[in-house]
Amino acid sequence: MNSLDQSIKASFSSSGMSVLNLARPDDWHVHVRDGALLETVLPHTARQFGRAIIMPNLNPPVTTTAQAASYRQRILAARPAQGPGVAFEPLMTLYLTDNMSPDEVRRACESGFVHGVKLYPAGTTTNSNAGVTDLRHCVVTLEAMQQNSLPLLIHGEVTDPSIDVFDREEVFIDQVLEPLRRDFPALKVVFEHITTRSAVEYVRDADAEPGMLGATITAHHLLLNRNAILVGGIRPHYYCLPVFKRETHRLALVEAAISGHPRFFLGTDSAPHPQSLKENPCGCAGCYTAPHALELYAQAFDKAGALRRLEGFASFYGSDFYGLPRSTDTVTLERTSWVLPEDVDADSLGVVVFKPGKDLSWKLR
Ligand code: NCD
Ligand code: ZN
Repeated sequence: MNSLDQSIKASFSSSGMSVLNLARPDDWHVHVRDGALLETVLPHTARQFGRAIIMPNLNPPVTTTAQAASYRQRILAARPAQGPGVAFEPLMTLYLTDNMSPDEVRRACESGFVHGVKLYPAGTTTNSNAGVTDLRHCVVTLEAMQQNSLPLLIHGEVTDPSIDVFDREEVFIDQVLEPLRRDFPALKVVFEHITTRSAVEYVRDADAEPGMLGATITAHHLLLNRNAILVGGIRPHYYCLPVFKRETHRLALVEAAISGHPRFFLGTDSAPHPQSLKENPCGCAGCYTAPHALELYAQAFDKAGALRRLEGFASFYGSDFYGLPRSTDTVTLERTSWVLPEDVDADSLGVVVFKPGKDLSWKLR
């Protein structure tokens, strides 16, 4: 039995039920917000994942290690008091601006709790106005990150208004990512929430040492293509950034996720917004997948006949990339058809949970 086969711990009973035990997964890209919303959404992530890379795009953004320290305390305080989730560990990130100093990078590295710096090109997405206007402003900071092996986590879209929104990721690869990686060959880079065949091929085929380049893939981009947003009516809860692409791109993402290639790992990009800001003439981008994220990934892997590849993608490759120990805890998924209950739909804060449009076939025990 090879190591992949050994990691399959699925047992099938005669009734067709199946059980899948995995090392507890981690979420390498999530938005947990702040204040009352943090208290509502954090337990969903903590119940499933051992650790998560916390996005810093609060308003105002988390730009210093000191701010990350206090945000981390608020997250720890929002963990469930008992059950799965009590030991959830937030892995903090800083928000790169034109003025972040190399000293901040050193403070971040010394802290032990900051694990990356996030690049939002200014104007790309939610709370990105304070983001980077031109990477040339960040040269000394990127050098410090490179020296200290602090990863750069990239929202990979250009903002040039003349570039079609469906092409912004592909143009980013040529105009920004490739030059950046050439100029900083020893910088650890994560291409976040990739959505195109070009991004898959770029990451898969890049000439990079192990642990230098990775990409996160969301569950919603594995499950849906752009028709979901527009066919039969406009569906704001399927609108996120980078926006869903054509089916051929979704298929490329599925191939990457199930490939067993360690450069591809799980990042939900769960991004809750109040219902009133989603169902709005100018609705916010973001899919709120956290409450059943793992079940959504299991659905996508099962549909591709590749459940045996889920554990590497969800539980191993991300921690390997970040140089953190693999989880020793486990979770169990059971095969069972279930409809998301209506009362999960909108909680007291009016945050609508992402539904994939059909029943789910896996449930976290
Ligand atoms: C994210 C958010 O709302 O913070 N939205 C999204 O559509 N993914 C920001 C981001 O990751 O782009
Ligand atoms: Zn995000």
